[in-house]
Amino acid sequence: MALQAIKYDTGKLEILDQLLLPKESKYISIKGVEDGWRAIHNMQVRGAPAIAIVGCLSLVVDIYNEEFEKKKVLRQEVEGKLNYLVSARPTAVNMKLAADDLLNMANDLAKDENISVSEMKNRFIKAVEEMLEKDVADNSAIGQHGATAILNQDNVRNGNVRVLTHCNTGSLATSGYGTALGVCRSLAFHKRLEHVYCTETRPYNQGARLTAYELVYDKLPATLICDSAVSYLMKTRHITAVIVGADRVAANGDTANKIGTYQIAICAKYHSVPFYVAVPLTSIDFSMPSGDQIVIEERPEKEMTYISNVRIAAPGINCWNPAFDVTPASLITGIVTELGVFKPSELGNLSKKLNSS
Ligand code: MRU
Repeated sequence: MALQAIKYDTGKLEILDQLLLPKESKYISIKGVEDGWRAIHNMQVRGAPAIAIVGCLSLVVDIYNEEFEKKKVLRQEVEGKLNYLVSARPTAVNMKLAADDLLNMANDLAKDENISVSEMKNRFIKAVEEMLEKDVADNSAIGQHGATAILNQDNVRNGNVRVLTHCNTGSLATSGYGTALGVCRSLAFHKRLEHVYCTETRPYNQGARLTAYELVYDKLPATLICDSAVSYLMKTRHITAVIVGADRVAANGDTANKIGTYQIAICAKYHSVPFYVAVPLTSIDFSMPSGDQIVIEERPEKEMTYISNVRIAAPGINCWNPAFDVTPASLITGIVTELGVFKPSELGNLSKKLNSS
């Protein structure tokens, strides 16, 4: 059975507590936006698409259990709670874009005199529930496009590929299947994945705890490496491509992703290894001109000075713990989306095409 980070059934939401993995597989109940905000902020659920989906579903749980007499009241509640959810983690854009779309929808429904308050509530709930299904379908398309792009590269040896990935972008970070990890899954499905290397992803070890867990769960050929082994891996193991996810891609292709992504992209350039970013369109912020404007979240120092409640850093040392960095577009070979693979310079045309359709 496929690993499921999010369990949702008509107004009832549970998430796999990712802070307990791989030791313990335990689902916790999300009873509304307060729980949703906390689970996202504390990283019991993380990964840009999963943050948006759990956030929006937590709002559904709230309004599902409430009676509204007026559409205006429902609209106000939706707006206030969406703004609150957006504040849980600042770098990932998916929650913000979902909030904008849902608020536009709520505004239109509130204005439409032919729609009753209960109809408005039902339509709103349905729109969020559809996000869950769309994300899995988009990830499957991303997997296919990414696998095709990598397999068409000149550096593929004996028909099979060895890829490197960073952080966790799999079923745990999405509604299912994953983005960058979805590309690995697709390569494996086509029996072309020779090996996937995943980094530990310090400081919070999403690679060692979560990606390694998913790779073992799916029985994919995989090896965990320290973040500091990346250059040596590229020098000695013939890596065909790097594939990572993103929390926000700016309009020029600059990409915010887990801290450490930038240095991997530099290593990839030096070793002539193609570097791909796999994202649903909901991770692209066409309104942000470049990566310079992306707000980088800084996390508590405890997430770097402790591992499983054991202090590993010398007491008294100062710490700096940015959760993400920005990889310049010039280091990115292709951005893999559900609509195909684009060079960073092609995002402008993509945006125009999306706006006109
Ligand atoms: O801090 P996290 O674990 O939420 O960071 C996650 C990442 O950086 C992922 O690469 C990104 O959100 C894409 S998940 C499909």
